[in-house]
Amino acid sequence: MNYRHAFHAGNHADVLKHLVLSRLLLLLSRKEAPYAYLDTHAGLGLYDLTADQATRTGEWRDGIGRLWEADDLPAAFNEYFGVLRAMNPDGQLRYYPGSPELARQLSREQDRLQFNEKHPEDGRLLKENMAHDRRTAVHLGEGWYVPRALLPTQEKRMVMLIDPPFEQADELERCVESLNDAIGRMRQAIVAIWYPIKDERQLRRFYNDLSKSNAPKLLRAELFVHPGDDAQRLNGSGLVISNPPWGLEDELRQILPWLAKRLAQSESSWRLDWLIAE
Ligand SMILES: C[S@@+](CC[C@H](N)C(=O)[O-])C[C@H]1O[C@@H](n2cnc3c(N)ncnc32)[C@H](O)[C@@H]1O
Repeated sequence: MNYRHAFHAGNHADVLKHLVLSRLLLLLSRKEAPYAYLDTHAGLGLYDLTADQATRTGEWRDGIGRLWEADDLPAAFNEYFGVLRAMNPDGQLRYYPGSPELARQLSREQDRLQFNEKHPEDGRLLKENMAHDRRTAVHLGEGWYVPRALLPTQEKRMVMLIDPPFEQADELERCVESLNDAIGRMRQAIVAIWYPIKDERQLRRFYNDLSKSNAPKLLRAELFVHPGDDAQRLNGSGLVISNPPWGLEDELRQILPWLAKRLAQSESSWRLDWLIAE
């Protein structure tokens, strides 16, 4: 396990992932009934962009760094940026929320959050970072076992983020297996899988496997910051979301073109479509 998210926190891929996560949780909050949030590969929860790891790559500068002072942010950014502003009250961007902290701040008293992180050091920091909130639980186990270990939840509504490091060749396949495991246990599960856009051939197989999965509905949202023609670089990233709440598709149709314009590194583009339509 070499991957450490601290090198990449706040980059263009995090912006897409965290914006979508914030919208998912906000749309779920329209109803009073509680939801459970599960994060299979959680990282440490929050990041210091002035620390050594983030400074060495500087990836955040072409991600959240480009948006921080924008004066034309679409309204859909309000909650994501509300969390960022609360973490950086003096207006200087220094602290960045990982998915656990974002979910923690956007969820409500009645909601419950379970995070899993296998790296012992990151897991320890995550435990420390979440210890003050009794709605949270941190597990230090294998992320791929989370759907089988923790589903179904007592809450009828459940959002699961699957966000592995993609260090191993089989991780796209394991994402599809985890989606099937989750849907097999909770047919209404909202499962969001984040993936890097690099090798088109591998992705074609992934899309094909996803379209044959047992998800009742599956939305695909992608943001390219480069054309997709170089398998060695991160051309962009995507999320597939099972059973997306009503309203998400429309919101993403507004947001993705704006993000593509702001986060372009060479030629940017975006895509939003259904891998499984109702
Ligand atoms: C992309 S990062 C997660 C970032 C986080 N979801 C966020 O958005 O802030 C992937 C994390 O998975 C952890 N990890 C790697 N292999 C794992 C496994 N088999 N099970 C659980 N976690 C794992 C890594 O240590 C890393 O922290």
